[in-house]
Amino acid sequence: MDIRLDAIIKKYKRDKREFTVLDNISVTLPQGKFTVISGDSGVGKSTLLNIVAGLSKPTEGKVYYGEKEITALGDEELAKLRMGFMGVMTQNCELIPYLTLGENLELAYDISGKSEKNKNSSSDGNGDSDSNNGDSNSDNNNGDSDSNGDNIGSDKEPLAEELASFSAELLDALGLSQLRNEYPSSLSSGEIKRAAIARTLITKPDLIIMDEPTANLDRKNVRAVLQLLKRFSTQGSTVIISSHEQEAIAEADFKYELEHTT
Ligand SMILES: Nc1ncnc2c1ncn2[C@@H]1O[C@H](COP(=O)(O)OP(=O)(O)OP(=O)(O)O)[C@@H](O)[C@H]1O
Ligand SMILES: [Mg+2]
Repeated sequence: MDIRLDAIIKKYKRDKREFTVLDNISVTLPQGKFTVISGDSGVGKSTLLNIVAGLSKPTEGKVYYGEKEITALGDEELAKLRMGFMGVMTQNCELIPYLTLGENLELAYDISGKSEKNKNSSSDGNGDSDSNNGDSNSDNNNGDSDSNGDNIGSDKEPLAEELASFSAELLDALGLSQLRNEYPSSLSSGEIKRAAIARTLITKPDLIIMDEPTANLDRKNVRAVLQLLKRFSTQGSTVIISSHEQEAIAEADFKYELEHTT
């Protein structure tokens, strides 16, 4: 399911003066691809991603997920659509301070609705379900019994084990295995960023939207994050991130550079 932006305009007000940040943006962000939105600081990347994620409404214009116009949906419908289908990480990502890093991941999975979905779908024999995505063709990777060692969705293991195993896999990929039982207050900002990335991915979302996931990370971790996101897109997730990082832009299947409005 492609994401389509149709003539998006976003205006903000500052000191009673209105200014235009996004001026008539029309673009299709392709399904199952790794899209990187780039541009200078202040150009409107976060504004655009928040509109794509349905967290903010454009002043004018429409956003479609496939045939569904999400700019026409109310908060409740949007929340339902997001459940288990989208993973969104905003620029100022924060973890829940009174939970350990591992517990932060588990909670994200629990409240996504995906655990219920998997429980229900395990009886149909293939672990696959599109029952609560609100869209008929969004079952591209969740719960599929793919052959690359991923466990969620398989009906062979109890859910808790699947979750623990995938959580460990993610933490390992992001160099966080040793920190699983730590609380956010004892983590560095780069570690918190990587933990927030793991938390966003724990539900294996069909649609992943992350604002600057590689900002303030060292080269090794930038690579690790990009590899992980590429892997998700290869497995069918639509991945949309913002980044200034040349390395991220180079990895993109689809690039979109924002420019300042005049
Ligand atoms: N809620 C708001 N009200 C008024 N102005 C805003 C609001 N949010 C953002 N802006 C302004 O809109 C412009 C775009 O902001 P945005 O956060 O989208 O930029 P960005 O490209 O993500 O920047 P960065 O790379 O620094 O994260 C900036 O000039 C910012 O000051
Ligand atoms: Mg931003």
